[in-house]
Amino acid sequence: MHTKIYKPIVCMHSWCVEIVALKVVDLAIGYEKPLIRNINVELESPYILLIIGPNGVGKTTFLKTLIGFVRPHAGKVYVNQIDITGNSELAGVFMDYVPQLSRFTSTTGFPITVWEFVEFGLTIHLKKMGLRMDKSEMQRIIKETFNTVGIDKSLWDRSIWKLSGGEMQRLFMARALVNNQPIILLDEPLSSIDPEGKMEIIDVISILKKDKIILITCHDPEIFLGICDNVMIFGRGVYYIGKPMEVLNIDVLGRIYGKSVIKFKDHVHIYDHHN
Ligand SMILES: Nc1ncnc2c1ncn2[C@@H]1O[C@H](COP(=O)(O)OP(=O)(O)OP(=O)(O)O)[C@@H](O)[C@H]1O
Ligand SMILES: [Mg+2]
Repeated sequence: MHTKIYKPIVCMHSWCVEIVALKVVDLAIGYEKPLIRNINVELESPYILLIIGPNGVGKTTFLKTLIGFVRPHAGKVYVNQIDITGNSELAGVFMDYVPQLSRFTSTTGFPITVWEFVEFGLTIHLKKMGLRMDKSEMQRIIKETFNTVGIDKSLWDRSIWKLSGGEMQRLFMARALVNNQPIILLDEPLSSIDPEGKMEIIDVISILKKDKIILITCHDPEIFLGICDNVMIFGRGVYYIGKPMEVLNIDVLGRIYGKSVIKFKDHVHIYDHHN
């Protein structure tokens, strides 16, 4: 069983920023050609933005563009008015990206344990930020982070390549959360988590929201409806953004998902789920 201590890890580091603002101006995302143009978003912490949309419309690309892994065709990304567009090093000072693990196919790799993986991430981050931390303080923070995401002590010395999909998902969350960045990008954080685990991860996310901006891509909007502030819906070349009640309706979803959207009594369902 996981140790269920959902103690907030917010502001336990010295570099914790009080309020953070993320501004996206006329952004065009894509690779050879733009997938979506003119994306404009302005968020201030605490904030959770849910991003949904069919496969291949550009949700992951959007997150990767925000953190500078992919350069935009046009437009700018600002954090607290600092231009971080296409600059992953600078973006990394403010944000962490937890990748979409359903696409993570590697089963073998260099030998590294769960503990070392997170410790290594924190060490690199501290170095990048020019900060020093006592070994005992690092250990305290890593343990607290493992408790937060539900990684049991029995896993700490295990090779990361022997973890289950759900354990790996939690590990990647731990690696991002240990740095306590003010902006967290979660790409399908529940894709390999069992139903009980999903509720635990949602609890973690709602605690983290206290002082952060969190962007979450997901194929099942209902799971996050209780905790998100706004929903962004990506379609082919278009996007909609608004309060859940404004955009999660048969008109908007029907335009994006076509016949996959059904209305049942007062509820709208998207029934061609991912995977
Ligand atoms: N490195 C790349 N080079 C060129 N095209 C890419 C690259 N990565 C992704 N794509 C393409 O860009 C489009 C958007 O991909 P993206 O991963 O952003 O979609 P997504 O909305 O996250 O989909 P999913 O719901 O399946 O995760 C897809 O058609 C994909 O094949
Ligand atoms: Mg994706």
